[in-house]
Parts: sequence; C-alpha cells; structure tokens
Amino acid sequence: MNYRHAFHAGNHGDCLKHALLVALLDRLLRKDAPLAVVDLHAGRGRYDLGGPEASRTGEWRDGIGRLLDQPPAPLARYVGLVQALGLYPGSPALAQALLRPTDRLVLNEKQPEEFAALRAWAEGDARIVLRQGDAWALKGIVPPAGYRRGLVLFDPPYEAEGEHARLAAALREAHRLAPTFVLAAWYPVKHLAPVRALRDSLAGLPKLVDAALYLRPPLDPTRLNGSGLIVVNAPWGYAEEAQAIVEALRGRLADEAGAAVHLAAA
Ligand SMILES: C[S@@+](CC[C@H](N)C(=O)[O-])C[C@H]1O[C@@H](n2cnc3c(N)ncnc32)[C@H](O)[C@@H]1O
Repeated sequence: MNYRHAFHAGNHGDCLKHALLVALLDRLLRKDAPLAVVDLHAGRGRYDLGGPEASRTGEWRDGIGRLLDQPPAPLARYVGLVQALGLYPGSPALAQALLRPTDRLVLNEKQPEEFAALRAWAEGDARIVLRQGDAWALKGIVPPAGYRRGLVLFDPPYEAEGEHARLAAALREAHRLAPTFVLAAWYPVKHLAPVRALRDSLAGLPKLVDAALYLRPPLDPTRLNGSGLIVVNAPWGYAEEAQAIVEALRGRLADEAGAAVHLAAA
C-alpha cells in the first residue's frame, strides 16, 4: 500500500470523480428520506495543494487549477464547493458539506496514516462513522443499518494486479447487499483493454451510466490518459447531467488531439 492520494489530489481524475459525485448527491438529496453515504476508500478527507506532496507532482495545476476561473455552468456547483471549503476537498469533505443532520457518512480507510488524518479531520461530526478496514469486506458496511437510501463510492488506487476484476465483483456484491443504493466507481483510463473488460463485466446491473473523459487517445499504458465513473442505479436525469459535466471538463482540461468523451447509459 504505497499509494498516497495527496500526490494526486485535484488532478483531472479527481475533478471528474468529484464533479460527478456532487451531481449524484444533489440528486439524492432532493428527497427528504435520510441518506447514507459509504466512502469505501476515503483517504484523508481533504488535501493541501500547497503542501509538499501536491507541489512535487503539480498534478492539480492541470486539474482543478484550470477550473477555478469562471467555471462553465455544469462545473459551477463543484468548483463553488471547492472554493468554499478551503483545502481541496476529497470525497469525504464534499459529502460532509452536502449531507443533512439526519444523514450518515461512513468513511472507510485502510492505510494507518491516512486513517489517522481522516479521524482527526472528522472529529466532532456526529453524522460520521469511521472504520479502518479493508474496503473489499463489504458485509457489515453495506448497507449501513437503518438506511434504505444511499450511495456507495468505490475509489481504489489500482495499484494491485486484478483491481478491475475485484471492483467488478465488489459492485455485484454491493448491489446484492443493498439493491436500492446508488453505486459509483471511479476508474483510471490508461489503455482500453482493462476498461472494456470492466464495462463488459458489469453488464446486466440496473441503470448503468458510464461517463469518461479521455484527454488523448488511450494508447500509452504508462500514462493516465483519462478516467471515468461508472454508476449503478443512476438517478433519473443523471446521465444527461454527467454528459454536460464531462463535456465541460473536456473543454477546460483536454488540449491534445484526440480528446473524447465516452457516455454510455443502459
Ligand atoms: C484514490 S484514494 C481515495 C481518494 C478519496 N476517495 C477522495 O476522492 O478524496 C484511495 C485510498 O484507498 C486506500 N486504500 C487502498 N487499499 C484499500 C483497501 N483495500 N481498503 C480500504 N482503503 C484502501 C488508500 O490508502 C487511499 O487512501
């Protein structure tokens, strides 16, 4: 477990994931019934883009750094939250900002230092339940007891061999355990073979919306050429909003020939 999200916070992958996550949560929060959000790979909650890790890679400059100035309308809500929250908000901080007093936020993180930082950040918020464990052990976490509506976010680091296959199996398991929950999984696009395999392996799950941005043709597997978010049980109207968000991201973030948006709804 060498992965540290602080090196990558605010990069183009985060922008796609977090803008779409905000869109999903806004839609779910239109109903009054309490909501549970389970963030299985939570990281440390929020990130200092002026800190040594983010400064070393500078990835955020070609991500959130390109969106802050007069963001296009589909990105305005996400960028507004980033600006309001100060340090770059990871998925836990975005969810925390949006959820209501009756909602629940379950944050799971395995890496000890990341978990310690997450715990220090989350302290004092009674809506948050922390868990230090393996995200793939879903039973007992999904669904949170007492909640029939909610969202589960899968955001693994894709360091290990076979992470795509593991993700596909976990999405099927989560859907079995919590059939009414929205499931969202971020995936990197390096080259297309693993992405195609992931998409194929999810066929048959209900209300699938897969939105991806390719910054360039995904041919060089040593580069992060783009990323996507696959959603199961996508809320009504989300596919159209996701399309607008990813198109807007392409307009700001992609400047190489062959950039493309992939949007598939089934
Ligand atoms: C991409 S980062 C998460 C970023 C976060 N979701 C966000 O958007 O702000 C992935 C996180 O998963 C953690 N992780 C890796 N393997 C894990 C596992 N098996 N179970 C739980 N967490 C894991 C890593 O330590 C890392 O903090």
